[in-house]
Amino acid sequence: MPRGGGLMAPGLRPLLLLAFWMLASSARSPAEANDGGWPRYGPGAPVAVAEEERCTVERRVDLSYAEFMQHYAFSRPVILQGLTDNSRFRVLCSRERLLASFGDSVVRLSTANTYSYRKVDLPFQEYVEQMLHPQDPLSMGNDTLYFFGDNNFTEWASLFRHYSPPPFGLLGTTPAYSFGIAGAGSGVPFHWHGPGFSEVIYGRKRWFLYPPEKTPEFHPNKTTLAWLRDTYPALAPSARPLECTIQAGEVLYFPDRWWHATLNLDTSVFISTFLS
Ligand SMILES: *[C@@H]1O[C@H](CO)[C@@H](O)[C@H](O)[C@H]1NC(C)=O
Ligand SMILES: *[C@@H]1O[C@H](CO)[C@@H](O)[C@H](O)[C@H]1NC(C)=O
Ligand SMILES: *[C@@H]1O[C@H](CO)[C@@H](O)[C@H](O)[C@H]1NC(C)=O
Repeated sequence: MPRGGGLMAPGLRPLLLLAFWMLASSARSPAEANDGGWPRYGPGAPVAVAEEERCTVERRVDLSYAEFMQHYAFSRPVILQGLTDNSRFRVLCSRERLLASFGDSVVRLSTANTYSYRKVDLPFQEYVEQMLHPQDPLSMGNDTLYFFGDNNFTEWASLFRHYSPPPFGLLGTTPAYSFGIAGAGSGVPFHWHGPGFSEVIYGRKRWFLYPPEKTPEFHPNKTTLAWLRDTYPALAPSARPLECTIQAGEVLYFPDRWWHATLNLDTSVFISTFLS
């Protein structure tokens, strides 16, 4: 039976157009399709923060456990690639999926300063829809709320069981997850703790690291964004931190007691595995 546009009932044309439009929009550019619905900079973003000029943390693909232990575990940070595949977890962390599964869950936010004091509880949906805006460059860290850590693992177990942590353990330590979502320009200023890993699921996270014996110059209540703007440009080359921006799917390892500050360059979803 002959078929063609000329023979089609006029009423079918809009339907056909709709089908084409749906096909076209599902074939968007990969970058756009892969943001998980987390807007890159978010509404009302001030000027975007750039990545570092030169990444000074080593990147290693398929690193063996023996090499990890020998060269990094107790001595320096490293960015790991290709060790785990968290594509399934990534799908579950899209904005739409997380809101559908956990919109009503209460999440605990902390202030984004070095010695984070204040905690605020609110429904996840409210955090995502009303508080996930870019960092105000004039705000103080102790006046900025950040969703990271303090996770309710009972309530979120159905999500976290899909996460594959980096397969490297350290003798005498137990891994513990910390999950977070934060706006562009947000971050945690310099602090230190035990060793661990941090993986970016969506967005990019810029890191600044100093060894334990090299206490950085910083104000504990100022944001990382303010530190980058006010302190970083004047640092002598010998006083500069190790730094690098990690991309989705990459994992940064930080050794015990290394100072570090973080800066989310985009709206970011991330998860840490602390070894302590
Ligand atoms: C930082 O802010 C907290 C309260 O938000 C305050 O108690 C503390 O004294 C401040 N620290 C400094 C060094 O100003
Ligand atoms: C934040 O810290 C600054 C300086 O450390 C202090 O002056 C201010 O009162 C603190 N703000 C809040 C909300 O605690
Ligand atoms: C975690 O969530 C469960 C289930 O909703 C709840 O019963 C429990 O009180 C929560 N735990 C904390 C520490 O908030």
